[in-house]
Amino acid sequence: MSNVKFYSGENIPLEMHKVRIVQKLNIMPIERRLEALKEAGFNNFLLKNRDVFMDMLTDSGVNAMSDKQMAAMMEADDSYAGSETFTKLETKVGEIFGKTLYLPAHQGRACENIIAQTFVNPGSTAIMNYHFTTTRSHIVRNGGTVEELLNEEGYQVNSECLFKGNMDIPKLRALISEKGAENISFVRFEAGTNLIGGQPFSLANLMEARKVCDEFGVMLILDASLLADNLYFIKVREEQCQDMSIREITRAIANQVDIIYFSARKLGCARGGGICTNNEEHFVKMRELVPLYEGFLTYGGMSVREMEAMAVGLEETMDEDMINQGPQFIAYMTEELQKKGVPVVTPAGGLGCHLNAMEFVKHIPQQDYPAGALAAALYLVSGVRGMERGTMSEERDDNGVEPFADMELLRLAMPRRVFTLSQVKYAVDRIAWLYENRNLIGGLKFVEEPKILRFFLGRLDTNSDWPTALVQKFRSDFGDSL
Ligand code: F0G
Repeated sequence: MSNVKFYSGENIPLEMHKVRIVQKLNIMPIERRLEALKEAGFNNFLLKNRDVFMDMLTDSGVNAMSDKQMAAMMEADDSYAGSETFTKLETKVGEIFGKTLYLPAHQGRACENIIAQTFVNPGSTAIMNYHFTTTRSHIVRNGGTVEELLNEEGYQVNSECLFKGNMDIPKLRALISEKGAENISFVRFEAGTNLIGGQPFSLANLMEARKVCDEFGVMLILDASLLADNLYFIKVREEQCQDMSIREITRAIANQVDIIYFSARKLGCARGGGICTNNEEHFVKMRELVPLYEGFLTYGGMSVREMEAMAVGLEETMDEDMINQGPQFIAYMTEELQKKGVPVVTPAGGLGCHLNAMEFVKHIPQQDYPAGALAAALYLVSGVRGMERGTMSEERDDNGVEPFADMELLRLAMPRRVFTLSQVKYAVDRIAWLYENRNLIGGLKFVEEPKILRFFLGRLDTNSDWPTALVQKFRSDFGDSL
């Protein structure tokens, strides 16, 4: 994909796969989209897929599967205990990560539950490059606190920094000394750092963190859910790794950490998850919780068909042509939006294209959820469903105080191998129109606000009737067009 040059000089990502199964899409008129938005309490999570044209909510569990994955699903060995499919998956995880003790779990947050219950004590601190929503909730529920030591550059929406997911190593050393190693539950690195725009860490940074963890005897954990994107970025951006294969880079990363966990809804393009390690003691402790929360040790809440697909998907992740499709489509979308002056997170990361709502709708204050409002407005004018990644995705503290997010982003996820370039161009076109009409967008307020992970199920309303104004402007510019 990356090696094909166009005679015209255009920089277009070329897919190294062909489409063999399709799903029909609908595009509703804007008036229906307004009704749908009201029914969904202005929360994109509550929309029905039949009202959505391009579902860019997430890449989780919606990546396209390969023919080889589908074929493998037919061979699944369905048995409660001792399934041959499990052995195949365990062997593949061991082969890829070099970690032979594998615990199955039904998705990423199930791994987080097991890890947090096992290693987080009340009053302890989990240190990470940046939190993920479910990760933090599990740590806090177990009485721990989260400290983020993202490099300063990671907080800059626009930067030249190629590894915005890196950890600040001097701060890591200082924090462990200050708290005392016995009060640190673990250090966690998140690959393809989700909430700051799918930004990678470098292998060099991880190796430095390992040294510090060794100095203090602290455990290092990798959240590998978004590892595929991170691997690609290390391969193309980190000079010392350019001659390494994706497989070698994967091993080099895995060798630095004590425990790896992942959501296979992202990594491996299936639906499931797991935890792997070479540490017997850790393994035995975590293992107790698997039959309790997930299921027997040879399926862990997953369907054997998905486990077969996962084993093949993990192997396919070692192919650069497979893992570069997402980042290259995202880079294309980001660059096209930049050409039109739309504020986006740069450099383009993995996972999706991220609009900077703080700038896009700078007239909306953070307490009125600018990224949530932008998410609703974009759905309204295009049928494109993105995900708020800003203050709505935060949680109030015990006193009911709402922390403002470091960034207000609208994430437009790019599920792997799902969209065509013309669909991406459509999204760019509508976003550019919305940017020109951004002053019509207003804020949101909660009318039903769950205490935990409120962004999933919360219902909101608008602060004024701004959606009607947007619909009118759309009709005057687009006529009868959908
Ligand atoms: N860690 C990271 C970095 C994630 O991005 C996710 C999920 C999880 C853990 C939890 O995994 O969903 O399988 O339970 N991210 C999804 C998203 C939900 O849309 O970004 P899960």
